[in-house]
Amino acid sequence: MPIPKYVGSFKGKDFINTQDFTQAEIKKILDAADDLKKKFRKRIPTNYLPGRTLFMIFYNRSLRTRNSFEAGIYQLGGHAHFLSPQDLYTPTLPEDMVPYATEAISDVARVLSRYGDAIAIRIYGDAAKWTIGRGHRVIQEFAKWADIPVLNMEDDMHHPFQALADMQAARAVEPKLEGKKFVVSYAYSGGLKPLAVPQNEVLITTQMGMDVVLAHPKGFELEDSIIKSCQENVEKYGGSFEICNDMEEAFEGADFVYPKAWSPKQFVPPYNKTVDKEGASAYQAKFKNWITTMELLDRTNKAYYMHCGPADRGQEVTDEVLDSYKRSLYFEQAENRLHVQKAVMSMVIP
Ligand code: CP
Repeated sequence: MPIPKYVGSFKGKDFINTQDFTQAEIKKILDAADDLKKKFRKRIPTNYLPGRTLFMIFYNRSLRTRNSFEAGIYQLGGHAHFLSPQDLYTPTLPEDMVPYATEAISDVARVLSRYGDAIAIRIYGDAAKWTIGRGHRVIQEFAKWADIPVLNMEDDMHHPFQALADMQAARAVEPKLEGKKFVVSYAYSGGLKPLAVPQNEVLITTQMGMDVVLAHPKGFELEDSIIKSCQENVEKYGGSFEICNDMEEAFEGADFVYPKAWSPKQFVPPYNKTVDKEGASAYQAKFKNWITTMELLDRTNKAYYMHCGPADRGQEVTDEVLDSYKRSLYFEQAENRLHVQKAVMSMVIP
């Protein structure tokens, strides 16, 4: 079995944020993912990581992420360990170690580094105390201490593997993404949701040189650092980046739409002293008309509908769109999680 050149090409690197990679590097990962997808469909063996171990620490639930990582490392010839934090000694940030705590993240990261080949972590929401950036700091702390690559399976700032899977799906239907209008829009949902997906979508689409529109009601602003990075991406890679507060206007002439719920940040730390779930829910309820319908999609340039999953039926999107819209990429995006994760694992795991 010939080993492709991309295997080991980013040996030892963490994968935490797509912005840590150049456009050329992202395209190289997507090319590798396309190769792995083709081989998966033809059942061609891809035993590129024999005997390697991936540790997966899930502070949150998952369908797509857990199963695609676990299946992915197995298909590469390796093995995954599923770890929930309560089965460890709840790995803890340095500032939370006082007065007593059993095991610091620095300990956990160094111990796991002695046993296997990569550590993948998911942490946001309640597990990160709904404090924007805290989950991301947990992953950075793991990366600081681990001697093996750390992979971000979604924190409260970034969901980089989702962004890769989405670009693989978009490239498959529109090989030249430059010049295409990509809309990342708020869509209503009742519960608190992290900013990770919309933030990563505006980052990677501007990194791909697309014409990107971010649409949301007032109060749903993304983090300033993300907006700044998008503007830097436009300077570096071309395309454009605009923000508007009207979903219908944003959908006009769009080639891709990505309507997805996230939470208004003025109700959670560090923008609020406490986590005000009721306040956030009441505020979100004002925007129930931010739902993707067939009529709304008619305003677009026959746009491809995208969502990371799980989509909230009847809130973010109608059943009709999810079940019968011909240009939906929903299940392709879910499948691509497998291929992009296999690509990155085969590139970074030594
Ligand atoms: N999109 C995504 O990460 O899905 P899961 O929450 O099911 O893993």
